[in-house]
Amino acid sequence: MAENTKTAKLTIDGKEYELPIHSPSAGPDVIDIRKLYAQAGVFTYDPGFTSTASCDSTITFIDGDKGELLHRGYPIDQLASKSHFLEVAFTLLYGYLPSADELEKFESLVTNHTMIHEQMHYFFRGFRRDAHPMATMVGVVGAMSAFYHDSTDINDQHQREVASIRLIAKMPTIAAMAYKYSIGQPFVYPRNDLDYASNFLHMCFAVPAEEYQVNPILARAMDRIFTLHADHEQNASTSTVRLASSSGANPFACIAAGIACLWGPAHGGANQACLEMLREIGTVDRIPEYIARAKDKSDPFRLMGFGHRVYKNFDPRAKVMKESADEVLALLGIENNPTLQVAKELERIALEDPYFAEKKLYPNVDFYSGIILDAMGFPTSMFTPIFALARTVGWISQWKEQLADPQLKIGRPRQLYLGDTARDYVNIEDR
Ligand code: SDX
Repeated sequence: MAENTKTAKLTIDGKEYELPIHSPSAGPDVIDIRKLYAQAGVFTYDPGFTSTASCDSTITFIDGDKGELLHRGYPIDQLASKSHFLEVAFTLLYGYLPSADELEKFESLVTNHTMIHEQMHYFFRGFRRDAHPMATMVGVVGAMSAFYHDSTDINDQHQREVASIRLIAKMPTIAAMAYKYSIGQPFVYPRNDLDYASNFLHMCFAVPAEEYQVNPILARAMDRIFTLHADHEQNASTSTVRLASSSGANPFACIAAGIACLWGPAHGGANQACLEMLREIGTVDRIPEYIARAKDKSDPFRLMGFGHRVYKNFDPRAKVMKESADEVLALLGIENNPTLQVAKELERIALEDPYFAEKKLYPNVDFYSGIILDAMGFPTSMFTPIFALARTVGWISQWKEQLADPQLKIGRPRQLYLGDTARDYVNIEDR
C-alpha cells in the first residue's frame, strides 16, 4: 500500500484524532480506522458495508459511476470479445495475460482435473431428485474436503495451488451432475478433447443414447457468460469466502460458503428470479403493472436484474450480455422470443421512469443472462449454479490473495448493541 501523508481528523468529545488516509491506484481514498477503537474507544457503524473497504486487492476494479469493470486492469468488454474464460481465469489467478505456452499448460492442467472421485457420485444419490442444484452444489463442494485431504492445508503453497485447479476444473462437472441428477438422466463424464465451455455443455446435454455435437455458437456464448461472471471485487459471496478463509477453513469449505451466499435472490439468485419475473409479466402490456409494484414502498416486489450496490450506471456486463442475447437468439432463429421482447421493453420503460433514474437503477448482469441460458436449454434452476461455476475462479483468486496477505487476521466485526444491559436471573416461580 502506497504510503500517504494525507490524514483525516476526527473530533470526539473535544478530543482530536488523526487517521491515516491511503490512496488507491484507482477509486476513492480510504480512511484507515484500524486503530480507532484502541485510540478513541468507539466503533464505526456501516451495516451492509456501503462505505467500508474490507481489504486491499489488485484483482478487480469497478467504477460504479462510469460503469467500468477491470480484471487486472483489462476492461471486461475487451476480455469478453477478445479473450476466453480460461485465459481470463489465468489472468485473475496470476495477475497477467499468459504467454501461449503458459496458457496451453494451464488449460491442460484444468482439463486433466475435470473428473471427480468416483465415490462422490454417491453423494448425489442422497439428495431428492427435485433438490435445487444449488443445494446439491453446496453439499458436494463442501464434501470435497472429505476427499481431497492432500489439498486442504492452506499453509502449503503447493496444496493451495492444487486445490485451486481442482475447484476450477471440477465445478463444471459437479454443476452438470447436479443438473443430470435433477432430470433423472445418467451422469456424463468430462471429455479431454473438448474446451471448458463445450465440455460443460456436453456434460449437461449429451445422453448415452446418441451422439451429441456441441453447437460452437452456444459454446462461445457459454464461454462468454463464464467470463462475464468470473469475478466482481468484494461482493457478498466473495466477502463470504474471504471471511470463512480468515478462520483458516479449508478451500472447499470456503467455496461452499460462497456458493451458499451466492444463492440468494438479491445476489446470484437474481438471474433465476429475473427470468421467472419476465415470464410472470408475460406480455409487454403488463409491464406498467410491475413497474408500479417495483416503485410501491408497501410492496416488497423489486425488478429482479435491476439495481446494484456499486453500479450507478449501466453494468458493463449487462451491455455485453444484451448483445450476446440478440446474437444467440438470432442464430437460434428465435429472435422474436417473447421473453426477450418483454425484457427489452421493460428496460426501455424503466430507464425512462424518473424513479429508476433518480435511484440510478440500471439492468445488471442478471437481467439478460437468463434469457440466453433459457434459449440454450437450461432450466431456471441451473442459472445460479452456472454463475457459481464461473465465479469460482474469482473466489479462488481472492482467497489466494487474502492468504498471501501478511496482514491477514480473522474477520471479526463488532456491533452497535441495543439490547438489555446486565440484569439478574429471575427464577421461574418468581416471573
Ligand atoms: C449481483 O455486489 C456485486 O457485485 C454483485 C454482483 C456480482 O457480480 O457479484 O454484481 C451480482 O448480485 C447483481 C445484483 C442482482 N440482484 C438483483 O438484481 C436483485 C434486485 N436488485 C436489488 O435487490 C438491489 O438493487 C441490490 C440488492 C442489487 C442492491 O441493493 P442496495 O445497494 O442495498 O440498494 P438498496 O436496496 O438500498 O436500494 C436503493 C433504493 C431503495 O429505495 P429507497 O429505500 O432508497 O427508497 O433503490 C430501490 C430500493 O427500494 N431499489 C429498487 C431495486 N433495487 C433497489 N427498486 C426496485 N427494483 C429494484 N431492483
